Amino acid sequence: MCGIVGYIGKSAAPPILINGLRRLEYRGYDSAGMAIVDHGKIVVAKAAGKVANLNDKAKAEWPASRFTESSYGIAHTRWATHGPPTEVNAHPHLDQSGDIAVVHNGIIENYRSLRAKLEAKGSKFVSETDTEVLAHLIGDRYRGDLFQAVCDALHQVEGTFGIAVISAKEPGKIITARRGSPIVLGIASGETIVASDASAILSHTQRVIYLDDNDIALVTADHVDIRDLNNVPVNREISELEFDAGSAEKGGHEHFMLKEIFEQPDCLRNAIRGRLDFSIGSSVLSGMGTSPRDLAEIHRVVLVGCGTSLHSGLIGEYAIEDLADTLAEVQQAAEFRYRNPIIGRNDLVLAISQSGETADTLAAVREAHQKGAFVMGLCNVVGSTIARETGRGIYLHAGPEISVASTKAFTSQVAVLLMIALKLGRARRFSREDGLAFALGIESIPSLVEKVLESNDKIAQLAEGYLHQQHAFFIGRGPMYPVALEGALKLKEISYIHAEGYHAAELKHGPIALLEKGTPVIALANDIPGKDKTLGNIEECKARGARILGLITEGDEEAAAVMDDIITIPACHPLIATIPTAVALQLFAYHIARLRGCEIDQPRNLAKSVTVE
Ligand code: F6R
Repeated sequence: MCGIVGYIGKSAAPPILINGLRRLEYRGYDSAGMAIVDHGKIVVAKAAGKVANLNDKAKAEWPASRFTESSYGIAHTRWATHGPPTEVNAHPHLDQSGDIAVVHNGIIENYRSLRAKLEAKGSKFVSETDTEVLAHLIGDRYRGDLFQAVCDALHQVEGTFGIAVISAKEPGKIITARRGSPIVLGIASGETIVASDASAILSHTQRVIYLDDNDIALVTADHVDIRDLNNVPVNREISELEFDAGSAEKGGHEHFMLKEIFEQPDCLRNAIRGRLDFSIGSSVLSGMGTSPRDLAEIHRVVLVGCGTSLHSGLIGEYAIEDLADTLAEVQQAAEFRYRNPIIGRNDLVLAISQSGETADTLAAVREAHQKGAFVMGLCNVVGSTIARETGRGIYLHAGPEISVASTKAFTSQVAVLLMIALKLGRARRFSREDGLAFALGIESIPSLVEKVLESNDKIAQLAEGYLHQQHAFFIGRGPMYPVALEGALKLKEISYIHAEGYHAAELKHGPIALLEKGTPVIALANDIPGKDKTLGNIEECKARGARILGLITEGDEEAAAVMDDIITIPACHPLIATIPTAVALQLFAYHIARLRGCEIDQPRNLAKSVTVE
C-alpha cells in the first residue's frame, strides 16, 4: 500500500527512482512523484495516475541534466487515503520553506490537530494529505539538524509511518524511519537504496537491512547509522534476500498474475520441500518451535487473516478439526482485536499473511500476544513485520507475489496449513498409517496443480461464455466452501463482475432470489462427502434458469450430466482437492478479466499489502 524508494550513490538518481517505483507500483498506483536536489534546491515532479505518467511528466518538465547529475532523491507511488489521487495530493510533500521533502506510507492519525497548530504558526497547506502535515512539522522542528528534526517530529505523531526525507540544506543524506509500515535498506557498494519493499532493491543488491518499528536511520551513499527515536544507536543485522531480480519480472507472461498462477507447482514444491517425514507419517515444521508435547496441549487453534488469507484460514479450520481433532476457528483479523477475544495460554493463534504487513492481522498478533496465546505467523515475505513479531512460524517460500490478486500465496498457505494440521493430528489421534497417506497426498499437490494447468486453454475457451455477465455465484460445501469464497473474490477483484461465494446449502435461504435465466453458478461439486447434496442444490439453481459451470472430479459422469459446462479436477483427498480446484478458479477469473480488457495486475481501487486499518 503505497511504495517508497530513495536512492543515494554514484549513479544518477531519477532513472533509478522511476525504475524502483515501477517495481513497487503493485503496492499503489493512483499517483506518483519524486524529489531531488538540483543546484541547492529541492525540485519535485508529480503526476496523477501511473508511474509512466510521472516519467513522461518529469521528462517534459525537467532539463535533461537533472536526469544525469543528481545522485540522490526520494520517490513515491500512492494509494490514496487522505484526499483523492490528484497531482497535488501526490507525494513528495514539502515543508513551508520548500527545503525539506517527505514521502510517507501509513496514516498520521492526529494530523488534523497538528495541522491546526501549524496553521496557527503560519503554515500554508496545499494538499489534503496527512503527509504534508508531517513535512511541515519536520520543517517546524528544524534547527540545523535534519536527523534531529525528524526525530522530534515523529515524537509528536500518532499513527503509522514509513518515511524518507531529504533536505536541500543537508545534501548527500536521506533520513528514513518506520513505525508500522516497512522500510528496507539495500546495501550495495557505494550506494544505498531505501525502499518500502525489497522488490525495489533487487536489481541493485541482495544485501538488506530491515528497520524495526521506531528505528530512524541516517543514510548516505556508503554508510547507514540506525538509532531509535531517542537517538540511541541500535544494531540491525544485514540479511541476504532469497530471490533475485528475475523473480520480480513477468518472464514472458502477459501478466504477473498468469506467471504466478503457472509458478504454483514450483512454489508448492518449495513450500513442501523438506517438511514431510514419511518415516513418521508427519510433517517437520521446525519454525513452529514446538515439541509433540506442546502440540498435544494446544486446546484450540485460532486462525486470523484478511481477504484471501482469511479464505486459506477457513480451509485450515476444516483441516485442523478433521485431521487433528482440535477445536479450530477462523476470525477476520480486523474483528479479532475489537471483539476482546477469549484467548488463553493453551490457544495457538496462527496469523496468516502473504505480505506480513497487513495492519489488521498485525493488530491481531499483538492482541493475541497480549492475551498470552501461543502466536505463530504464516508469511510469505521474509523479514516482514508479522514474521518478526510472531518470532516463530512458517515461511511460504512462494517468492515475490507482484500481482495484486493473490494466487500462489493462497495455495502455498493452504499447503502449509495442511502440514500444520497433519503435525497436530500426529501429536493426537491420527495414526502413522493415516498420517503417511495424507503426507503422500500433500506430496502429490504440485503434480495435481500441473494437471489443472494443462486445462488452461480449455478454461480460456469456457471463459468466453461467461464474459458478459453482471453477476456470478460460487457454491461449495465442506472445504470447498472457502474455495468458493476465494473463487468469487478472484473474479470480482480483477474482472469487476459482481461475484459472491456461498455455502451450497445457503443459496436457497435467500440469494436464490437473484437467479435469472443464464445467471452463472460456478458449482464446486468435486466427488467429496456432501457431493450428492451439492448436486441437489445445483438442480435447484437449474430450475431457475441458472447456467452451471461445474468443477467436478475427473471421470465423474454423474456430476458431469448435471452441468452445462465442466472443468475436471484430478481425484484426491477432499482437503487436498481445495488447491487444484482453487487454481482452476484462478485461471477462470484471469481469462474473464483478460477478455474483458481489465487491468489484471493492478485492479482499480486495490493495492497489495493493506497497511492501514
Ligand atoms: C486478494 C488479496 C487480498 C489479501 C489481503 C490480505 O487477492 O490479495 O485479499 O489476501 O489483503 O493480505 P496479506 O495476505 O498480505 O495479509
